[in-house]
Amino acid sequence: MTRSSAPGKVYLFGEHAVVYGEPAVPCAIERRARVGVEPRDDATLRVHSDDLSLDGFTVEYSGSTTGTPDIDVAESLVDAAMGYVDEAIGQVRDVTGDTETGFDVTIESDIPLGAGIGSSAAVVVAAIDAASRALGVELSTDELAERAYRTELAVQDGQASRADTFCSATGGAVRVEGADCRSIAAPDLPFVIGFDGGAGDTGALVAGVRQLREEYDFAAETIESIGDIVRRGERILADGDVEELGELMDFNHGLLSALGVSSRSLDSMVWAAREAGAHGVKLTGAGGGGCIVALDPTPETATALRYLPGCEEVFRAELATDGVKRLE
Ligand code: MEV
Repeated sequence: MTRSSAPGKVYLFGEHAVVYGEPAVPCAIERRARVGVEPRDDATLRVHSDDLSLDGFTVEYSGSTTGTPDIDVAESLVDAAMGYVDEAIGQVRDVTGDTETGFDVTIESDIPLGAGIGSSAAVVVAAIDAASRALGVELSTDELAERAYRTELAVQDGQASRADTFCSATGGAVRVEGADCRSIAAPDLPFVIGFDGGAGDTGALVAGVRQLREEYDFAAETIESIGDIVRRGERILADGDVEELGELMDFNHGLLSALGVSSRSLDSMVWAAREAGAHGVKLTGAGGGGCIVALDPTPETATALRYLPGCEEVFRAELATDGVKRLE
Protein backbone atom coordinates (compact mmCIF):
# COMPACT_ATOMS: atom_id res chain seq x y z
CA MET A 1 0.00 0.00 0.00
CA THR A 2 1.22 3.53 -0.78
CA ARG A 3 0.29 6.07 1.90
CA SER A 4 0.50 9.84 2.16
CA SER A 5 -0.75 12.29 4.75
CA ALA A 6 -1.62 15.97 4.49
CA PRO A 7 -2.60 18.59 7.09
CA GLY A 8 -5.71 20.71 7.64
CA LYS A 9 -5.51 24.49 8.05
CA VAL A 10 -6.83 27.53 9.88
CA TYR A 11 -6.96 31.14 8.73
CA LEU A 12 -4.64 33.20 10.92
CA PHE A 13 -5.90 36.28 9.08
CA GLY A 14 -7.88 37.45 6.10
CA GLU A 15 -10.87 35.20 5.29
CA HIS A 16 -13.70 36.96 3.43
CA ALA A 17 -11.48 39.97 2.58
CA VAL A 18 -9.46 37.58 0.37
CA VAL A 19 -12.51 37.32 -1.90
CA TYR A 20 -11.98 41.04 -2.77
CA GLY A 21 -8.27 40.73 -3.61
CA GLU A 22 -6.91 41.43 -0.13
CA PRO A 23 -4.18 39.05 1.07
CA ALA A 24 -4.90 36.27 3.60
CA VAL A 25 -2.69 34.01 5.72
CA PRO A 26 -3.85 30.41 6.15
CA CYS A 27 -1.63 28.15 8.29
CA ALA A 28 -1.36 24.37 8.13
CA ILE A 29 -2.12 22.62 11.43
CA GLU A 30 -0.73 19.36 12.78
CA ARG A 31 -3.98 17.47 12.26
CA ARG A 32 -3.86 15.17 9.28
CA ALA A 33 -5.75 13.04 6.81
CA ARG A 34 -3.93 9.85 5.83
CA VAL A 35 -4.80 8.14 2.58
CA GLY A 36 -3.56 4.69 1.56
CA VAL A 37 -3.99 3.31 -1.95
CA GLU A 38 -3.58 -0.14 -3.40
CA PRO A 39 -3.75 -0.46 -7.20
CA ARG A 40 -6.36 -2.89 -8.60
CA ASP A 41 -6.34 -4.92 -11.80
CA ASP A 42 -9.68 -3.49 -12.89
CA ALA A 43 -10.51 0.24 -13.22
CA THR A 44 -12.82 0.24 -10.16
CA LEU A 45 -12.42 2.68 -7.31
CA ARG A 46 -13.29 1.45 -3.83
CA VAL A 47 -13.13 3.67 -0.78
CA HIS A 48 -13.02 2.55 2.81
CA SER A 49 -12.98 4.69 5.91
CA ASP A 50 -13.61 3.79 9.54
CA ASP A 51 -13.15 7.22 10.96
CA LEU A 52 -14.69 9.93 8.85
CA SER A 53 -16.39 11.01 12.02
CA LEU A 54 -18.47 14.01 12.91
CA ASP A 55 -20.65 14.53 15.96
CA GLY A 56 -19.62 11.16 17.30
CA PHE A 57 -20.93 9.24 14.27
CA THR A 58 -18.64 6.79 12.66
CA VAL A 59 -19.00 6.30 8.98
CA GLU A 60 -18.23 2.85 7.69
CA TYR A 61 -18.20 2.75 3.99
CA SER A 62 -16.95 0.31 1.48
CA GLY A 63 -18.40 0.79 -1.93
CA SER A 64 -17.62 1.46 -5.51
CA THR A 65 -18.40 4.47 -7.59
CA THR A 66 -19.67 2.09 -10.21
CA GLY A 67 -21.80 -0.08 -7.91
CA THR A 68 -24.48 0.55 -5.28
CA PRO A 69 -22.85 2.08 -2.19
CA ASP A 70 -23.25 0.19 1.06
CA ILE A 71 -23.82 3.08 3.45
CA ASP A 72 -24.29 2.93 7.19
CA VAL A 73 -24.72 6.46 8.50
CA ALA A 74 -24.06 10.08 7.61
CA GLU A 75 -24.72 9.38 3.96
CA SER A 76 -24.02 12.91 2.81
CA LEU A 77 -20.58 12.88 4.40
CA VAL A 78 -19.70 9.66 2.68
CA ASP A 79 -21.04 10.96 -0.61
CA ALA A 80 -18.96 14.09 -0.19
CA ALA A 81 -15.80 12.14 0.62
CA MET A 82 -16.46 9.80 -2.34
CA GLY A 83 -16.93 12.77 -4.66
CA TYR A 84 -13.58 14.23 -3.67
CA VAL A 85 -11.71 10.93 -3.94
CA ASP A 86 -13.33 10.12 -7.28
CA GLU A 87 -12.28 13.47 -8.74
CA ALA A 88 -8.80 13.25 -7.16
CA ILE A 89 -8.25 9.89 -8.88
CA GLY A 90 -9.49 11.51 -12.11
CA GLN A 91 -6.69 14.08 -11.76
CA VAL A 92 -4.18 11.27 -11.14
CA ARG A 93 -5.38 9.51 -14.30
CA ASP A 94 -4.98 12.75 -16.21
CA VAL A 95 -1.48 13.53 -14.96
CA THR A 96 -0.12 9.96 -15.22
CA GLY A 97 -1.94 8.97 -18.42
CA ASP A 98 -2.92 5.65 -16.76
CA THR A 99 -6.68 5.21 -17.12
CA GLU A 100 -6.71 1.42 -16.68
CA THR A 101 -5.68 1.02 -13.05
CA GLY A 102 -8.27 1.17 -10.27
CA PHE A 103 -7.61 1.65 -6.57
CA ASP A 104 -8.63 0.47 -3.14
CA VAL A 105 -8.47 3.68 -1.12
CA THR A 106 -8.38 3.82 2.68
CA ILE A 107 -8.95 7.15 4.43
CA GLU A 108 -8.15 7.97 8.04
CA SER A 109 -8.55 11.51 9.26
CA ASP A 110 -8.16 13.35 12.53
CA ILE A 111 -9.49 16.60 11.06
CA PRO A 112 -13.16 17.15 11.94
CA LEU A 113 -15.21 16.97 8.72
CA GLY A 114 -17.27 19.94 7.64
CA ALA A 115 -15.72 22.20 10.29
CA GLY A 116 -14.09 24.60 7.83
CA ILE A 117 -10.53 23.57 8.63
CA GLY A 118 -9.60 21.96 5.35
CA SER A 119 -10.50 18.29 5.80
CA SER A 120 -11.49 17.81 2.15
CA ALA A 121 -8.33 19.54 0.88
CA ALA A 122 -6.19 17.30 3.10
CA VAL A 123 -7.91 14.13 1.82
CA VAL A 124 -7.56 15.30 -1.78
CA VAL A 125 -3.87 16.25 -1.47
CA ALA A 126 -2.99 12.98 0.27
CA ALA A 127 -5.04 10.91 -2.21
CA ILE A 128 -3.47 12.49 -5.30
CA ASP A 129 0.02 12.14 -3.87
CA ALA A 130 -0.42 8.50 -2.83
CA ALA A 131 -2.18 7.38 -6.03
CA SER A 132 0.29 9.09 -8.38
CA ARG A 133 3.23 7.57 -6.47
CA ALA A 134 1.55 4.15 -6.64
CA LEU A 135 1.66 4.58 -10.43
CA GLY A 136 5.34 5.54 -10.31
CA VAL A 137 4.93 9.33 -10.72
CA GLU A 138 6.21 11.80 -8.10
CA LEU A 139 4.47 15.13 -8.46
CA SER A 140 6.17 18.38 -7.47
CA THR A 141 4.47 20.25 -4.62
CA ASP A 142 3.24 22.90 -7.07
CA GLU A 143 1.74 20.30 -9.41
CA LEU A 144 0.15 18.51 -6.46
CA ALA A 145 -1.38 21.78 -5.19
CA GLU A 146 -2.65 22.60 -8.69
CA ARG A 147 -4.23 19.14 -9.19
CA ALA A 148 -5.81 19.30 -5.73
CA TYR A 149 -7.20 22.76 -6.48
CA ARG A 150 -8.71 21.49 -9.76
CA THR A 151 -10.28 18.62 -7.81
CA GLU A 152 -11.99 21.01 -5.36
CA LEU A 153 -13.05 23.28 -8.22
CA ALA A 154 -14.75 20.38 -10.02
CA VAL A 155 -16.46 18.97 -6.91
CA GLN A 156 -17.57 22.38 -5.60
CA ASP A 157 -19.10 23.57 -8.91
CA GLY A 158 -16.38 26.08 -9.73
CA GLN A 159 -16.28 27.60 -6.20
CA ALA A 160 -12.92 26.92 -4.60
CA SER A 161 -10.08 28.94 -3.19
CA ARG A 162 -6.48 27.89 -3.74
CA ALA A 163 -5.74 28.52 -0.07
CA ASP A 164 -6.77 25.15 1.43
CA THR A 165 -5.12 22.89 -1.12
CA PHE A 166 -1.91 24.95 -1.43
CA CYS A 167 -1.55 25.15 2.36
CA SER A 168 -2.19 21.44 2.76
CA ALA A 169 0.36 20.54 0.06
CA THR A 170 3.15 22.86 1.29
CA GLY A 171 2.49 23.10 5.03
CA GLY A 172 3.57 26.12 7.09
CA ALA A 173 2.16 29.62 6.82
CA VAL A 174 1.02 30.75 3.39
CA ARG A 175 0.28 34.15 1.88
CA VAL A 176 -2.61 34.10 -0.58
CA GLU A 177 -3.46 37.04 -2.81
CA GLY A 178 -5.67 36.35 -5.81
CA ALA A 179 -4.22 33.33 -7.61
CA ASP A 180 -0.79 33.92 -6.06
CA CYS A 181 0.10 31.59 -3.16
CA ARG A 182 3.49 31.43 -1.47
CA SER A 183 5.01 30.16 1.76
CA ILE A 184 6.05 32.74 4.34
CA ALA A 185 8.18 32.60 7.50
CA ALA A 186 6.42 31.87 10.79
CA PRO A 187 7.42 30.99 14.36
CA ASP A 188 5.98 28.03 16.29
CA LEU A 189 2.29 28.79 16.69
CA PRO A 190 0.51 27.19 19.67
CA PHE A 191 -2.98 26.91 18.19
CA VAL A 192 -6.03 25.87 20.18
CA ILE A 193 -9.08 25.10 18.06
CA GLY A 194 -12.64 25.03 19.33
CA PHE A 195 -15.43 23.53 17.21
CA ASP A 196 -19.14 24.14 17.90
CA GLY A 197 -20.16 21.03 15.95
CA GLY A 198 -21.85 23.04 13.20
CA ALA A 199 -20.92 24.75 9.99
CA GLY A 200 -22.00 27.96 8.31
CA ASP A 201 -23.17 28.04 4.70
CA THR A 202 -20.08 29.46 2.98
CA GLY A 203 -21.92 30.54 -0.17
CA ALA A 204 -24.61 32.40 1.78
CA LEU A 205 -22.06 34.05 4.11
CA VAL A 206 -19.89 35.21 1.19
CA ALA A 207 -23.03 36.54 -0.55
CA GLY A 208 -24.10 38.35 2.63
CA VAL A 209 -20.74 40.13 2.88
CA ARG A 210 -20.98 41.09 -0.81
CA GLN A 211 -24.40 42.65 -0.28
CA LEU A 212 -23.24 44.54 2.80
CA ARG A 213 -20.20 45.84 0.88
CA GLU A 214 -22.43 47.07 -1.95
CA GLU A 215 -24.80 48.81 0.43
CA TYR A 216 -22.52 50.30 3.10
CA ASP A 217 -19.21 52.14 2.86
CA PHE A 218 -18.30 50.86 6.32
CA ALA A 219 -18.32 47.28 5.01
CA ALA A 220 -15.98 48.13 2.11
CA GLU A 221 -13.71 49.94 4.58
CA THR A 222 -13.86 46.99 6.99
CA ILE A 223 -12.67 44.68 4.22
CA GLU A 224 -9.76 47.03 3.48
CA SER A 225 -8.95 47.17 7.20
CA ILE A 226 -8.75 43.38 7.29
CA GLY A 227 -6.23 43.65 4.42
CA ASP A 228 -4.20 46.12 6.54
CA ILE A 229 -4.21 43.66 9.44
CA VAL A 230 -2.98 40.88 7.17
CA ARG A 231 -0.09 43.01 5.84
CA ARG A 232 0.89 43.96 9.37
CA GLY A 233 0.43 40.37 10.56
CA GLU A 234 2.86 39.11 7.91
CA ARG A 235 5.58 41.38 9.28
CA ILE A 236 4.85 40.29 12.86
CA LEU A 237 4.93 36.64 11.79
CA ALA A 238 8.41 37.18 10.35
CA ASP A 239 9.47 38.82 13.66
CA GLY A 240 7.95 35.91 15.63
CA ASP A 241 6.05 38.05 18.15
CA VAL A 242 3.19 35.73 19.13
CA GLU A 243 1.61 38.21 21.58
CA GLU A 244 1.26 40.90 18.94
CA LEU A 245 -0.08 38.33 16.48
CA GLY A 246 -2.77 37.53 19.04
CA GLU A 247 -3.75 41.17 19.30
CA LEU A 248 -4.15 41.35 15.53
CA MET A 249 -6.28 38.19 15.60
CA ASP A 250 -8.59 39.90 18.10
CA PHE A 251 -8.91 42.91 15.77
CA ASN A 252 -9.56 40.59 12.82
CA HIS A 253 -12.36 38.84 14.73
CA GLY A 254 -13.98 42.19 15.56
CA LEU A 255 -13.94 43.18 11.90
CA LEU A 256 -15.41 39.83 10.84
CA SER A 257 -18.18 40.35 13.41
CA ALA A 258 -18.87 43.77 11.89
CA LEU A 259 -19.34 41.98 8.55
CA GLY A 260 -21.97 39.78 10.20
CA VAL A 261 -20.23 36.42 9.86
CA SER A 262 -19.74 35.52 13.53
CA SER A 263 -22.38 33.70 15.58
CA ARG A 264 -23.41 33.31 19.18
CA SER A 265 -21.51 30.02 19.57
CA LEU A 266 -18.38 31.37 17.87
CA ASP A 267 -18.49 34.52 20.01
CA SER A 268 -18.96 32.55 23.22
CA MET A 269 -15.90 30.39 22.36
CA VAL A 270 -13.96 33.56 21.49
CA TRP A 271 -14.81 35.16 24.85
CA ALA A 272 -14.05 31.98 26.82
CA ALA A 273 -10.62 31.83 25.16
CA ARG A 274 -9.95 35.52 25.84
CA GLU A 275 -10.97 35.19 29.47
CA ALA A 276 -8.70 32.15 29.82
CA GLY A 277 -5.76 34.33 28.77
CA ALA A 278 -5.23 33.44 25.10
CA HIS A 279 -2.93 35.88 23.27
CA GLY A 280 -5.67 36.28 20.70
CA VAL A 281 -8.61 34.46 19.15
CA LYS A 282 -10.82 34.68 16.10
CA LEU A 283 -13.26 32.66 14.07
CA THR A 284 -11.62 30.79 11.20
CA GLY A 285 -13.11 30.22 7.75
CA ALA A 286 -16.48 31.37 6.53
CA GLY A 287 -18.02 31.73 10.02
CA GLY A 288 -21.70 31.40 10.91
CA GLY A 289 -20.67 28.39 13.04
CA GLY A 290 -17.73 26.01 12.94
CA CYS A 291 -14.35 26.76 14.47
CA ILE A 292 -12.43 29.41 16.35
CA VAL A 293 -8.65 29.50 16.56
CA ALA A 294 -6.78 30.84 19.56
CA LEU A 295 -3.09 31.31 20.26
CA ASP A 296 -2.19 30.02 23.70
CA PRO A 297 0.98 28.20 24.78
CA THR A 298 -0.60 27.34 28.18
CA PRO A 299 -3.33 24.70 28.77
CA GLU A 300 -5.80 27.33 29.99
CA THR A 301 -7.73 28.05 26.79
CA ALA A 302 -8.20 24.38 25.94
CA THR A 303 -9.44 23.70 29.48
CA ALA A 304 -11.88 26.63 29.39
CA LEU A 305 -13.30 25.53 26.03
CA ARG A 306 -13.59 21.92 27.13
CA TYR A 307 -16.11 22.95 29.81
CA LEU A 308 -17.95 25.50 27.68
CA PRO A 309 -21.51 24.44 26.74
CA GLY A 310 -21.76 24.60 22.97
CA CYS A 311 -18.13 23.71 22.32
CA GLU A 312 -18.31 20.17 20.91
CA GLU A 313 -14.63 19.56 20.36
CA VAL A 314 -11.41 21.25 21.36
CA PHE A 315 -7.85 20.36 20.46
CA ARG A 316 -4.38 21.80 20.39
CA ALA A 317 -2.48 21.76 17.12
CA GLU A 318 0.92 23.26 16.36
CA LEU A 319 1.66 24.86 13.01
CA ALA A 320 2.40 21.95 10.64
CA THR A 321 5.72 22.84 9.07
CA ASP A 322 5.47 19.87 6.68
CA GLY A 323 2.72 19.68 4.11
CA VAL A 324 2.21 16.38 2.33
CA LYS A 325 4.19 13.52 3.90
CA ARG A 326 5.10 10.34 2.09
CA LEU A 327 4.51 7.65 4.68
CA GLU A 328 5.65 4.56 2.77
C1 MEV B 1 -13.85 30.16 3.52
O1 MEV B 1 -13.08 29.11 4.06
C2 MEV B 1 -12.99 31.35 3.24
C3 MEV B 1 -13.72 32.51 2.58
O2 MEV B 1 -12.78 33.59 2.50
C4 MEV B 1 -14.25 32.16 1.22
C5 MEV B 1 -13.16 31.98 0.17
O3 MEV B 1 -12.04 32.48 0.32
O4 MEV B 1 -13.47 31.34 -0.85
C6 MEV B 1 -14.88 32.98 3.44
